Amino acid sequence: MHIRVEDLTHIYARGTPAERVALRGVNLEIGPGERVGISGPTGSGKSTLVQHIAGLLVPAAGQVLLDGVPAHRRTPEARARRRQVGLAFQFPETQIFEVTVFREVAFGPRHLGLGADEIAARVRWALEMVGLDHDSFAERVPFALSGGEMRRVAIAGILALKPQVLILDEPTAGLDPRGRKELLARLRGWQAQTGATLILVSHHLDEMAGLVDRAVLLADGQVVADGPTRHILSDGARLRAVGLSPPPAVALLEALRAAGWPVRTDALNIEEVVAEIAQHVTTDGHG
Ligand SMILES: Nc1ncnc2c1ncn2[C@@H]1O[C@H](COP(=O)(O)OP(=O)(O)O)[C@@H](O)[C@H]1O
Ligand SMILES: [Mg+2]
Repeated sequence: MHIRVEDLTHIYARGTPAERVALRGVNLEIGPGERVGISGPTGSGKSTLVQHIAGLLVPAAGQVLLDGVPAHRRTPEARARRRQVGLAFQFPETQIFEVTVFREVAFGPRHLGLGADEIAARVRWALEMVGLDHDSFAERVPFALSGGEMRRVAIAGILALKPQVLILDEPTAGLDPRGRKELLARLRGWQAQTGATLILVSHHLDEMAGLVDRAVLLADGQVVADGPTRHILSDGARLRAVGLSPPPAVALLEALRAAGWPVRTDALNIEEVVAEIAQHVTTDGHG
């Protein structure tokens, strides 16, 4: 699926005292199979943007084209495109409404008109994909789950639709550090297996670093940077200027640089930091 966001503007509560311009002329193109991260401070318009890509909101100006078709139209061809875009909302409890985990994950496939065997197979597959054991979770009540489990169920419900585009809005909120890592690794595996487009919204830049090749920064409803993940995430000054914290690896190398070490600052994880420091320990005679 080819996604093209054209001069997209979104205004909430238009014409009321609470009017709020959430997106101001956003342009963005995402090709099939791309892995893209969208970051930016709270209120920068990330959630609004991805809801437009999923065709759930109507633009005040501009449009989102899914394979050339305006995403929000009420036509069968727009509906068919929207069906290929799965969005896991920032707040999963707003997405969950069935009485058992099985029914919740089966909801989408059932509406695709699939047979019972195929539905059951998809539910099992999707739950395993997000790290929930089918037999221990299938009959549980979604609302009695922990926040992290609920989020996994919501994501499973989207995966079960086998979308061409998967959008995850802050998917690791409510998960502990190990749970975050594990879920992201599973989603990376899913993406590699399916070749689907993956759009990850997060303000945890280190989390984004391991999962996407391209990073887009939003600030105040506008795209302020768009490029290779390493390039965007290693520019600590720009990240701080829009109110984001650089990944810890970048912050550490920047501090070393400020202390006089001639290190590069474009490392994205601990292993790269260690390699960079080791190079200077041996060649510069430190330590
Ligand atoms: N339903 C809404 N009604 C009014 N204003 C909203 C609504 N949703 C979001 N906003 C406002 O729009 C702006 C962008 O919000 P959002 O897209 O949720 O940003 P982000 O996901 O980056 O935190 C914010 O100023 C937010 O307060
Ligand atoms: Mg948001």
